[in-house]
Amino acid sequence: MLSRNDIIQWIKTSATLLAENKEYLTELDRAIGDADHGDNMDRGFKKALLQLDEVKDKDIGSILKSIGMALISSVGGAAGPLYGTFYMQAANAVAAKQELSDEEVVEFLQAGTTGLINRGKTKPGDKTIIDSLQPAIVTLKNNIQEGQELAEAMQGAVHRAEQGARETIPLVAKKGRASYLGERSVGHQDPGATSAYLLLKALLVTLESR
Ligand SMILES: Nc1ncnc2c1ncn2[C@@H]1O[C@H](COP(=O)(O)OP(=O)(O)O)[C@@H](O)[C@H]1O
Ligand SMILES: [Mg+2]
Repeated sequence: MLSRNDIIQWIKTSATLLAENKEYLTELDRAIGDADHGDNMDRGFKKALLQLDEVKDKDIGSILKSIGMALISSVGGAAGPLYGTFYMQAANAVAAKQELSDEEVVEFLQAGTTGLINRGKTKPGDKTIIDSLQPAIVTLKNNIQEGQELAEAMQGAVHRAEQGARETIPLVAKKGRASYLGERSVGHQDPGATSAYLLLKALLVTLESR
């Protein structure tokens, strides 16, 4: 189960983890992009935190939607609209709910991921956000279906996301700025796949500290 409060805590923890990893994400983006992914994510989630005050008493859909809008409006890079779409589509999947069952948690994360895939016109193996996010959600779904409780299931998902981010190292980038490098993008971990891992880790930290 995930409450409204858990969602709010997840966003706060996401902002903290992204701020802590700002330099790291920017270094990854320096190698195959334009060295701004850490700044982009940090700026976006700082904006989301500011907007959180206005929606913190509303339903889960409204909270998620406000995060999506904050990211879309404050982040210039590719990741802003992509993650923005993730939260907007996740919001649509749960709309007016005040709390989510474990199955609904899988559902809203999968809806967001599918939205991001459609928006980015990407697929696994393109060296993007999806390479950590999508396999992690599949792991989460399988773990829940096997009867694991949410925090345990999420632990497996976060582990899978971390692995997915690492597995982008040998890939040739097919989307976004890194794709301009072609073969020269090989040997570097994708910044977006890494930030997606951090966002899922923030959810795990939230679950484990409640
Ligand atoms: N079409 C896409 N689909 C999914 N993710 C993408 C796509 N294009 C780029 N990305 C992700 O965005 C990340 C770069 O984000 P960021 O640096 O914030 O934006 P920009 O590339 O505009 O500077 C990449 O590491 C990659 O994971
Ligand atoms: Mg960049």
